[in-house]
Amino acid sequence: MLPRIHALLGLLAAAGLQAETGNQAWLRYAALDDGATRQVREALPATLTALSDSPVAESARGELIRGIRGMLGRTLRVESRVPREGGIVLGTLAGIRKAAPHLPLAANLEADGYWLKTLRVDGARYLVITAENDRGVLYGAFALLRKIGLGESVADLDDRQTPYAPVRWVNQWDNLDGSIERGYGGRSIFWDNGNVREDLGRVSDYGRMLASLGIGACAINNVNANPRVLASDFLPQVVRIAGAFRPWGVRVALSVDLGIPKTVGGLDTFDPLDPRVTAWWKSKADELYRAIPDLAGFVLKADSEGRVGPSAYGRTHADAANVVARALAPHGGLFFYRGFVYDHRMDWRNPKNDRARAADDNFRALDGKFDDNVVLQIKNGPIDFQAREPASPLFGTLEKTNQAVELQITQEYFGQARHLVFLVPMWKETLDFDMHARGAGTPVKALVSGKTFRRPSGGFVGVANVGLDENWLGNHLSQANLYGFGRLAWDPNLSARQIAEEWTRLTFGDDPKVVATIAGMQLASWRIFENYTGPLGLQTLTDIVGNHYGVSVEASERNGWGQWHRADERGVGMDRTIATGTGFIGQFRPPVAAVYESLKTCPDDLVVFLHHVPYTHLLHSGKTVIQYIYDSHYEGEQAVAEYARQWESLKGRVDDRRYQEVLAQLEYQGGQAQVWRDAVARWFHRASGIPDAKGRVGRYPGRVEGEAMKLEGYAVSEVKPWEAASGGKAIECAAARCVASFSYDGAPGWYALQVRYFDQNNGASRFRLWVANQLAGEWAATDRVPTRKVDGSSSARRTVSGIALRPGDEIRIEGLPDGGETAAIDYIEVRPDRN
Ligand code: GCU
Repeated sequence: MLPRIHALLGLLAAAGLQAETGNQAWLRYAALDDGATRQVREALPATLTALSDSPVAESARGELIRGIRGMLGRTLRVESRVPREGGIVLGTLAGIRKAAPHLPLAANLEADGYWLKTLRVDGARYLVITAENDRGVLYGAFALLRKIGLGESVADLDDRQTPYAPVRWVNQWDNLDGSIERGYGGRSIFWDNGNVREDLGRVSDYGRMLASLGIGACAINNVNANPRVLASDFLPQVVRIAGAFRPWGVRVALSVDLGIPKTVGGLDTFDPLDPRVTAWWKSKADELYRAIPDLAGFVLKADSEGRVGPSAYGRTHADAANVVARALAPHGGLFFYRGFVYDHRMDWRNPKNDRARAADDNFRALDGKFDDNVVLQIKNGPIDFQAREPASPLFGTLEKTNQAVELQITQEYFGQARHLVFLVPMWKETLDFDMHARGAGTPVKALVSGKTFRRPSGGFVGVANVGLDENWLGNHLSQANLYGFGRLAWDPNLSARQIAEEWTRLTFGDDPKVVATIAGMQLASWRIFENYTGPLGLQTLTDIVGNHYGVSVEASERNGWGQWHRADERGVGMDRTIATGTGFIGQFRPPVAAVYESLKTCPDDLVVFLHHVPYTHLLHSGKTVIQYIYDSHYEGEQAVAEYARQWESLKGRVDDRRYQEVLAQLEYQGGQAQVWRDAVARWFHRASGIPDAKGRVGRYPGRVEGEAMKLEGYAVSEVKPWEAASGGKAIECAAARCVASFSYDGAPGWYALQVRYFDQNNGASRFRLWVANQLAGEWAATDRVPTRKVDGSSSARRTVSGIALRPGDEIRIEGLPDGGETAAIDYIEVRPDRN
């Protein structure tokens, strides 16, 4: 086999486009083109002196050598002293001043910041990468490589960077059994079957990726924490992970459970104010820090979604937070207390109940009661990572409490890495939103970083959930969200476009067409996703009590989870006004509340998040709410159909493997967008009774429902929710083989047949499509989808194009079920072939 693989690689290399797995993400260090190579080679000294041998400094040195070799084909000569004739010098300010006092470096730098500086001394040229600490030196090395990769000049550098905020962390929601809560990129890189993995190579690779973005800590287990992580006999496992991350300056943090003193500690209580509990946390922290002296801290989810909390003993969140924080404080550890506290058993009949109020209601009165090493970790919006939400009002409430914004990189409510959605524009909208917390000019980014109220800590936490998949996140384009999170955490003033372009160049190369196309798709993708899922602040209209993936408009209603949109035959939206609603709007500072309270000023994008309005309500855009819902869904679906065409224009400009994988993903997304479009539009059409002014909703030319076909073996079934299937019905096969057919009665010509079928995760059914007794297509339903049911999550589309049809032709589909999967079919649509 091997020689053949080598031959294949050789061929691909000859074509200039190596097959890529995505494993190296934006750190590929692909060879630059000749012009750029020449320029950088001229500007770059040939030697490298690293003035520290700490593991982090070693990483910086190794990375520079690796990156420059990859991009420029040159191997830097490593020197042990700073040569008089110039060179690259890598070290902390203190280290360089000591070893090379002749280099004039008058600067004060903050922890983790760096300075890239070209110096000319006695005719010699030095490129100095320096910082206050080794981590900063490593970040500087990555920054230099990024500049080279982006084609920026490195001839005369004077780039001094300070991270915007001290906290730049990621959380992983990994379970010890190896699964990942809301993870879409494969199984855990840390855990398997209750233990740490034998091979931690991927952890080290992840550390490298995080370091390249300036991310300094990672919580390595689910916030729904397994208490075992703090058991003494488990500690050696955590030690191993800390060891794999350490050379990259990434410190380990642990998610803990407030009940641990009882479940693991053997006490009969976890009351935070019980002295035995206090003592237990202290001795546990001491034990942990003996084993892991650089442990970053803990994250806690309490009194939320079934987790225990201080309410069990009538204590406050501050009581609980401070007890644990005081155990960490002597060691410099931080305690992240999540603001995601709410009652998921709320009475939906009470119009004054409102989950969006929960964070502010729970924490407002506690401002000033938390110790200085407690950080309140607050989700960007008041609900839960929905397609669009306002900023959480709590950001603007707290003045005497450290805070961090929690952003979700893993795309739980955003198509779960099967849909292209670049989240940076959304995050920026929140980060830039002015909360008026101390007059105008207090955006969320300034509040969370501690700048506004001069807090000692705070910043950015991203829920990353990378997994063992070669491309880390489940699809290549989703990597941009991890990259974007890190870049924003370092500097939230970067524009979304800059981040998208940087990422594309580093990940796919600097062909201008590639950069413009991919960055353009990324930048448009949030609005597009919102358009075909939940516009106007409806939130992601998905199965909120299940997998959070497929369409299910009413799943949010008539239950205690509080993600209500209250759509009925009269109107839609949650009345969160001060005047007549839940009062949520009143949690914002008055200038913000005034804008939201009045329909005259409330932005269209949030109108039904904040108000209950009739479907005929006229938006600022001049459309009625109902027509906007229809139009946005059709526009969104159309835009997704375009993605695949845009991507196809890159054929030959992107390596074939990633080209094919992304294309398949975008085609799939095209099918999903269509299900969403039809389901949401039909649901609101039925609820409102108001026709689509453009006559599209409910009319699907060329579509033949499965239930209208001639069936052999197939039986008609009701789909739940009804809107997830065209006509509310599917046909399912209970035998070994079933057939559905119909006779084509349209005009002769070239057509594409779109078969909408259901691909569950409990089998691999096969399908064969026959046209006039000729086999036209054959496929198996083997995609990775999060459902066993026939519903919106499993709804998939197969397009077979280039078919010549004549009136009277029989179109026949044959289904062969497998396992629990019933080879279910929704419809076949006959469309004119676009080619
Ligand atoms: C969401 C998510 C849960 C997660 C929770 C959290 O609700 O669906 O899986 O545990 O957020 O952030 O704690």
